Amino acid sequence: YVLGVDLGTSAVKVSAMNRDGEIVAQQSFDYPLIQSRPGYSEQNPEDWVSGTTVAIVRLILDDHIKPEEISGISFSGQMHGLVLLDANNQVLRPAILWNDTRTTKQCREIEAKLGSEFTDITKNKPLEGFTLPKMLWVKENEPDIWSQAKTFLLPKDYVRYRMTGKLGMDYSDATGTVLLDVKDGKWSQTICDAFDIPMSMCPPLMKSIDSAGTISSSYAIFSGLDTHTQVFGGAADNAAGAVGAGILSPNMVLSSIGTSGVVLKYEEDPTVDYHGVLQFEDHAIPDSYYSMGVTLAAGYSLNWFKRTFASDESFDDMVASAADSTVGANGLLYTPYIVGERAPHADADIRGSFTGVDGTHKKNDFVRAVLEGIIFSFKDIMDIYDENDKQFDTVVAIGGGAKSPLWLQIQADIFNKKVVSLTNEQGPGMGAAMIAAVGLGWFKDFHECAEKFVHFGKTYLPNPDNAKKYDQLHKIYAQVYEQTKGISQ
Ligand code: XUL
Repeated sequence: YVLGVDLGTSAVKVSAMNRDGEIVAQQSFDYPLIQSRPGYSEQNPEDWVSGTTVAIVRLILDDHIKPEEISGISFSGQMHGLVLLDANNQVLRPAILWNDTRTTKQCREIEAKLGSEFTDITKNKPLEGFTLPKMLWVKENEPDIWSQAKTFLLPKDYVRYRMTGKLGMDYSDATGTVLLDVKDGKWSQTICDAFDIPMSMCPPLMKSIDSAGTISSSYAIFSGLDTHTQVFGGAADNAAGAVGAGILSPNMVLSSIGTSGVVLKYEEDPTVDYHGVLQFEDHAIPDSYYSMGVTLAAGYSLNWFKRTFASDESFDDMVASAADSTVGANGLLYTPYIVGERAPHADADIRGSFTGVDGTHKKNDFVRAVLEGIIFSFKDIMDIYDENDKQFDTVVAIGGGAKSPLWLQIQADIFNKKVVSLTNEQGPGMGAAMIAAVGLGWFKDFHECAEKFVHFGKTYLPNPDNAKKYDQLHKIYAQVYEQTKGISQ
């Protein structure tokens, strides 16, 4: 077996998979978020370790997975979270997570100091969620802690360290720190020097499929695991999610709807320049990359709508009711900026809108407009690929958007592309297990592994008439941002 550890923001899920890519057992364990002030979001790294360990112990004791039959373990990790360790590798303070937004001042400082050179090196703009601004926040606000800090890690790297006793970070997560020179594949001396961060704080880099060693004897006693089990680097959750959804070549784009939404494209060339409008990260697959745009309120838009206007209906009934509206929701248009936006408009202050409201509109028109508006926002990101002459022909839909045939067809029509779903969608944990499987040499590469592990379901083809209508509506949708900028607050 291989174990895929999906270290998320609300829970850890550990899946045991066999060589045929089948899940034989799965266990998860929740842990809390610490939100002591508005904008703060922290977690206790010890909770990740104990949660992961409880899930593994349950796989062994309750699901009867024999420790000696677990050949490899790997990870998918929530990105960007800052874990600071002292000289004895003890955790110095709670981890500051990806969704913590206290670092706007530090982001502006990074921009002022390095300007476009920063984006040239890291391929990203400094955003509140990323790791470097969090380090600068600790340096400025907690100098006592900063002075004791000798190493920084990301969440899953800390769990891996506790399993193996070895420090390290894989490239796919390292790009998300914005301390990595992406073209060189090395920690950036320029950035470390500019912000007075000792290079010695940066952990050794490894590939996702590299072995980080075996289970240490102390962790074997703690967890029941065997000391022969190999532990592999693992990847950022978006990279692992992409692997698990078969995003393994440039003609594949992922459309993922969770609370937030992600459009993610496999990239071969690290010199492509999206000027930081899209995030650009190392992939879990050696020598490859991915670009990504995030819509902050994707599933969140629908949850908000249901909570506010349709709390008496089931979620599925509410979504299905949109079928009785029309393409274009009888003239109603929704922009999903209800908690601000990340891509293509990096704008924390913009807010959402319904436009074209008519006295004859019914609730199902509003539901349809929300479903369409979320996908229009994904289309904005896909248009950036068109503008940069990046061709792709298949969109793999996962998450909430893949659960409804209606929403899948809306995606095919708005993207004007073939859209496929997965029959065995497992999220990033599947990608984590695949990394271990490839790391162990069970397969020669991820393509061979995907033949066993990733199964595509039904294909949705665009309806040419609908695609034409949506194309016209998207042109109007695209103007709403400029027209509504600045109206909130
Ligand atoms: C990506 C990001 C989130 C986290 C969630 O930049 O901030 O998708 O990876 O864990």
